[in-house]
Amino acid sequence: MTPILEVRELAVDLGGRRRWLRPDLPPVRAVRGVSLSLRPGEVLGLVGESGCGKTTLGRTILGLQRESGGEIRLDGAVVSGLAPREARRARNAIHYVHQDAGAALDPWWSIGRTLEEALLVQGVRDPAERRARIDEVLAAVGLDATARPRYPHEFSGGQLRRVALARILALRPRVVILDEPTSGLDMSVQAMVLNLLGTLRRRYGLTYLFISHDLSVVRRFCDRVAIMYLGRVVELATAAEVFARPRHPYTRALLAASPSLSPEARPPAPIPAGEPPSAARLPPGCAFSPRCPHAQAPCRRTDPALAPDGRGETACLRWREIAADTMLPA
Ligand SMILES: Nc1ncnc2c1ncn2[C@@H]1O[C@H](COP(=O)(O)OP(=O)(O)OP(=O)(O)O)[C@@H](O)[C@H]1O
Ligand SMILES: [Mg+2]
Repeated sequence: MTPILEVRELAVDLGGRRRWLRPDLPPVRAVRGVSLSLRPGEVLGLVGESGCGKTTLGRTILGLQRESGGEIRLDGAVVSGLAPREARRARNAIHYVHQDAGAALDPWWSIGRTLEEALLVQGVRDPAERRARIDEVLAAVGLDATARPRYPHEFSGGQLRRVALARILALRPRVVILDEPTSGLDMSVQAMVLNLLGTLRRRYGLTYLFISHDLSVVRRFCDRVAIMYLGRVVELATAAEVFARPRHPYTRALLAASPSLSPEARPPAPIPAGEPPSAARLPPGCAFSPRCPHAQAPCRRTDPALAPDGRGETACLRWREIAADTMLPA
């Protein structure tokens, strides 16, 4: 099956020309040779600690951040290497749900106006069609027409997520990048949001790139998982495989240190020590080697590429030996 979205060897440099945006941050290569693809209708989880480049990758796929190298294809057509306006237009089928749902909504605009505006930007000129589409998306997210005259401050956190999703749905997306969609919500609201996302996916045939810190949520919700470390994908496999048989030492450490996973789901792996990672100070060789309990001399020389491992992909020179040593099923 042709992937709906394909990212090949994507590289993103930040802090160069647009240094004024964040003058406090040094220039970094925030995404370093990431390749991944999304199959129509799947949920691909993107996991990794703060600062590893998840949002940057999402924004670049969306066309809000320019890529420095590599290629992005949507339905097989190249949509990278374009000027910013063109890039966003070519990626019209891709939309982004911000982690702070409320922040994406204008506080001075009623929900109806926000939705109207989204449709106008899409070129929906016919008021009757706009009205019909707004009613449809509000119903799809479990709200009704009474939401139209209301303002964002009148909604709870969970309802704001519904509104944000309605706004995205009005744009008829095919791929939705969900950046931490459940963070900051209490458990019951989290469950509601995940349920709704599942329903919308089935109903509208959506494909999700699901960015999250929360491994228990990723485990339940994603078909496949990509683990990111300092700008690179270090492991990619089905969620079942990643959680049952993590192969990259970083994945193991991440799972072992995750308070949200049940103790049985955590592999016996030491929590990585050493200097906190920084994209601005990349070590030679494998970027994880300074914190890796299994690193040896070759790991400090060679930065391993993501390579097929029989059930997915892993970027580690030693995953076979480590699996044997730690007596975990390979
Ligand atoms: N405008 C910018 N200029 C320079 N560096 C930046 C800029 N924005 C982000 N960075 C750096 O790029 C790297 C990746 O940041 P990014 O926000 O993509 O990470 P993230 O994985 O989404 O983190 P989090 O989980 O905290 O959201 C970090 O090292 C960050 O400090
Ligand atoms: Mg982020």
